[in-house]
Amino acid sequence: MDTYRFRKQIHKLPGKVISYVPLPEPQVVDGHGARTQIGEICRECGYKQVLLVTDQTLQKLGYEQKIVQSLEEAGVGCTLFADINSEPTIDLITAGREAAMKCDAECVIALGGGSVMDTCKMIAAGAKLPRLKTKSLLLKFLVVRSKTLPMITVPSTAGTGAEVTVGAVVTNARGAKGSTVIVGLDVTHVILDSELTIHAPQLVTAACGMDALSHVVEGTLSDVAVYVEDAYHSLEGVRLILRHLPVVMREPENIESRLAMCRAAMYGGNAINTQLAGYIHAFAHSIGAKYHIPHGPAITLMMMPVLEYQKEACMEKYAIMARYCHLVEESTSDNEAAESFLQAIRELIATCGLDKLEMPVKPEDYEELTHMIAADSINYSAPMTFSNEDIARVLEAVTIKDERVEIRE
Ligand SMILES: [Fe+2]
Repeated sequence: MDTYRFRKQIHKLPGKVISYVPLPEPQVVDGHGARTQIGEICRECGYKQVLLVTDQTLQKLGYEQKIVQSLEEAGVGCTLFADINSEPTIDLITAGREAAMKCDAECVIALGGGSVMDTCKMIAAGAKLPRLKTKSLLLKFLVVRSKTLPMITVPSTAGTGAEVTVGAVVTNARGAKGSTVIVGLDVTHVILDSELTIHAPQLVTAACGMDALSHVVEGTLSDVAVYVEDAYHSLEGVRLILRHLPVVMREPENIESRLAMCRAAMYGGNAINTQLAGYIHAFAHSIGAKYHIPHGPAITLMMMPVLEYQKEACMEKYAIMARYCHLVEESTSDNEAAESFLQAIRELIATCGLDKLEMPVKPEDYEELTHMIAADSINYSAPMTFSNEDIARVLEAVTIKDERVEIRE
């Protein structure tokens, strides 16, 4: 059944619902090596004991050591939980909750990418709901009336924006991924430390940067009424990425541009919180799940096809972004400005070396993908509602013409 009319009728609902979720208002501390300030921050907050969570890869690189040292110097007790080796699962969250409760942690410090951030959100929520088993936390909306444990987030990539988003994606006992919005998430500080992103492989920098770009662009395009400040942050995120992603691809050790990318990614997280995503994400989630493509490359693959397909419906917003980013003169027509915006993104994808990604979609998968994309799109308040025919047309535009399909996790 084509759910088009239903989806069209309820398309503003997700934006209305999300507007009732209280958002964290963290203090942002940025700089090269900024994580050395965490000890002092914790001391000022009066914490005696914290739980520091990271993943095995970052621990091997020793990235947590400066945090441990600063906590020691500030006289704050620290328990390290570095067992994270996958996306959040019930077992990981349970082990993290037990570690937090065993040491009486007053704060959770999350050092890592999206998986660490999401695991920590569930740990911070679960520590305040000790009577509930972890599987009972996996609700669409998890309400923590007294707020979660305070969190200090230290992202190790400039991409997901998970350092501020109120959602967490967790794999349940049946192996299915589901998203939980945490009402009462208390992220008190975000530490943007370019020392953590400066040595990332170029492909990671590029793919994460495109993901961040998709968040601020889809946020700007969404049909959600937001405060001027949130709309401004999304626009500023677009500007920062168009300007600084080419720089970090060319000069990976450029600290100013690395920090600008960290800030843009955080703005992307704010865009997800306040404006939600859109069809780039709906398509990317579906082809990612179907063909096992990581999120950043899947987003990059779908970005231009979706943006081009939406051009008529989004022309004014594309033009606004082009003008804000000084891609065109103020007097340039909307049509010309919108085309300049699209061309800037095409060029950015090429500059990042991501224009050679091969499209994985096969015609025999259209029907299944169309259902997946239509179902995922219900989570957003996108600027236009794609009918099944619209979805099929975009899929046709990205279908491989031969059998060279090899982009695997
Ligand atoms: Fe994303």
